[in-house]
Amino acid sequence: MSRPRILIQFDSDPQPSTFDAVVAVDSQVDHLFRHGAVTEENVTGLVHGAMFTRGGEDLKSTAVFIGGNDVQAGEHLLSAVQDAFFGPVRVSVMLDSNGCNTTASAAVLSAGKHLDLANSTLLVLGGTGPVGRRVARLLARQGAQVRIGSRSPDRAAEAAAEVATSIDGDVSIEGVSTAGDDALAAALEDCQGIVACGAAGVRLVDQAALEKASSVKLLIDLNAVPPAGIEGVEATDKGRERGDRVAYGALGVGGLKMKIHRAAIQSLFESNDRVLDADEIYQLGQELLADG
Ligand SMILES: NC(=O)c1ccc[n+]([C@@H]2O[C@H](COP(=O)([O-])OP(=O)(O)OC[C@H]3O[C@@H](n4cnc5c(N)ncnc54)[C@H](OP(=O)(O)O)[C@@H]3O)[C@@H](O)[C@H]2O)c1
Repeated sequence: MSRPRILIQFDSDPQPSTFDAVVAVDSQVDHLFRHGAVTEENVTGLVHGAMFTRGGEDLKSTAVFIGGNDVQAGEHLLSAVQDAFFGPVRVSVMLDSNGCNTTASAAVLSAGKHLDLANSTLLVLGGTGPVGRRVARLLARQGAQVRIGSRSPDRAAEAAAEVATSIDGDVSIEGVSTAGDDALAAALEDCQGIVACGAAGVRLVDQAALEKASSVKLLIDLNAVPPAGIEGVEATDKGRERGDRVAYGALGVGGLKMKIHRAAIQSLFESNDRVLDADEIYQLGQELLADG
């Protein structure tokens, strides 16, 4: 008989996320242990508690979820958790700080329903943030030509270089400035899609800019807080036709994101050696879509 499923939530914020806790319960976890203010310095003992209590086959019934608002802190926690493992004595672990991996996966899978990504150019607006970097990474992995947009050319170039080096093989990623109308128009030239990943409540593209960008056929806006990141896209848009374009808003992408989040948690309990970061979570999303 298999052991009850225990998910241990390590959150970098003082109070562990209630959002992540609810999704865990909805993912058929039997027990949820929640820890806040988890850091690289204090996580090792918590991981040992997960590793040394159940042996052999039973290890797969314990798993770790890393969350919190700070994605970089989450990335450091993921490294520290893996460093605490040795040999086969380990448990599966998933990183989704600030919903970055599930959101980016859902956005890119939505884009792939409408564009042949391997033959498309997409502008990731606000692409220097944690969600934008993951969107850029996943798009590039699908063979898309990716432009990471930022108000600062230096930040754009740094993000493009960081994303490119995180991927094995040749990918097409460039950093572009989107500061001002002319720079934005140049960044949008010959683009088929926009994925807006700017900070909450920030308008990144208005109708005037969109009117000039005649090649753009797909608009995805991940910002749910008014005003919309892309003018004219509503948060609830889900593959909605707007003129000759298709639009998705944050809530429109959110349904698939939630399904991916739940599927990813369930998959943690299939073995004791899973590490779910952007690419693995995207792959789970692909499998979900393939299964209908
Ligand atoms: N739907 C969902 O389930 C879900 C889940 C998670 C996140 N989100 C949303 O996804 C979006 C991206 O999240 P994130 O955490 O990656 O965002 P973030 O780090 O807060 O911001 C992303 C980028 O936006 C740009 N930006 C910030 N303030 C700006 C301003 N006043 N004007 C223009 N650009 C500005 C910055 O780029 P530069 O400084 O380089 O220009 C920043 O790197 C957010 O809107 C978030 O709410 C949605």
